[in-house]
Amino acid sequence: MPQSHRFRRVVASLLASVCLGAWAGEVEVLHYWTSGGEAKSLAELKGMMAQRGHSWKDFAVVGGGGQNAMDVLKARVLAGNPPAAANIKGPAIQEWASLNVLSNLDAMASFDRWDEVLPKVVADQMKYKGRYVAVPVNVHRVNWLWANAEVLRKAGVNEAPRNFDEFFKAADKVRAAGLIALAHGGQDWQDFTTFESVVLGVGGPKFYDSALVKLEPAALGSDTMRRSLDTFRRLRGYVDDASRGRDWNVTTELVIQGKAGFQFMGDWAKGEFLAAGQQPGKDFRCFPAPGTAEAFTFNVDSFAMFQLKGWEAQKAQGYLAFLLMGKDFQERFNLRKGSIPVRQNVAMDKFDECAKVSSGDFSKAAKAGTLVPSVAHGMALAPGQQAAMRKLVSDFWNNPQLSVNDAQKQLLALRPAH
Ligand code: BGC
Repeated sequence: MPQSHRFRRVVASLLASVCLGAWAGEVEVLHYWTSGGEAKSLAELKGMMAQRGHSWKDFAVVGGGGQNAMDVLKARVLAGNPPAAANIKGPAIQEWASLNVLSNLDAMASFDRWDEVLPKVVADQMKYKGRYVAVPVNVHRVNWLWANAEVLRKAGVNEAPRNFDEFFKAADKVRAAGLIALAHGGQDWQDFTTFESVVLGVGGPKFYDSALVKLEPAALGSDTMRRSLDTFRRLRGYVDDASRGRDWNVTTELVIQGKAGFQFMGDWAKGEFLAAGQQPGKDFRCFPAPGTAEAFTFNVDSFAMFQLKGWEAQKAQGYLAFLLMGKDFQERFNLRKGSIPVRQNVAMDKFDECAKVSSGDFSKAAKAGTLVPSVAHGMALAPGQQAAMRKLVSDFWNNPQLSVNDAQKQLLALRPAH
């Protein structure tokens, strides 16, 4: 039976089940949400599936940013044994869809009017050749700077650093107070997360787009890129000796415990502060990364659904897709995950001030054309190209012998061959 017909059957059966009561199936879901805040967010989904009698088979692969999870997924799909759903994002969705292994979700999407409730930039990423193949659950903002409120008070930092000059002054004060100025986990994806915020802060959203998204030679070779690399390198001096290899959530813990002042990280970090019982404004602060207040680097988590054989399994998978886009799930999940609902018109009154700022800034940036995709989090480049850039950025961070000039040459060499 063609995919589209199968999913139509799933939608029909979903409607019947809503009217007639529960039916059960199993969903196996691949994800990498294993930190404290991530696990709490995912527990919402597991609980909601269980309420409907579906059993959840956890396929968790540890590793922030999801690189390990993607490797394991490839092996499973090649072996002809895919999970029901996997946390896949951005252009990687297109790559998987082109292998003809994903389910066509169009019947569900038109039944639930996804086109009307999703921002177009997101809906487009979820489609392959015009058909929905993935379901988005949130919008994470990546260009954040997190801070411990008490550390800032102790160090005499009274204002949010609005640009990198101000950031370095504030970081000097935290260091002078005897604390780690910048909590950073030295893993390639974390290096890249910081780097893209630096490029955005130094060059602005147009430059970010030309350099990191479009890989334009004029931007990659420019003086602005040189200044970005210099600034990024300077940050290295504010990091503690145990940084190398440290997981992002263990790094956030340093800020939570008041051992460190700042951390550059997307707002999944807020999930950790909240899981530790801390409150924004009082215990911790969320500032736009220096120089990036007018812009918004987006990172949308989404689940691609794999083609499955059994009817029961397809029904459970259909229910999962339906649930993920629901207002109720998007509210409960995002209250814990640190992100905001991607579905439009979900009330924000239960959300904290950081989420409200994020939501307002997302709309403003979309109108002003200052919404940019996170390159570090797989929203812009094809996975191979992203991996090459990630390696380069990380080599530059770790190797003081690699000059800015040489790093720029390597960046230029990343351009796709025409
Ligand atoms: C994902 C988040 C996740 C973070 C840390 C990001 O790429 O989008 O959902 O919490 O990585 O693993």
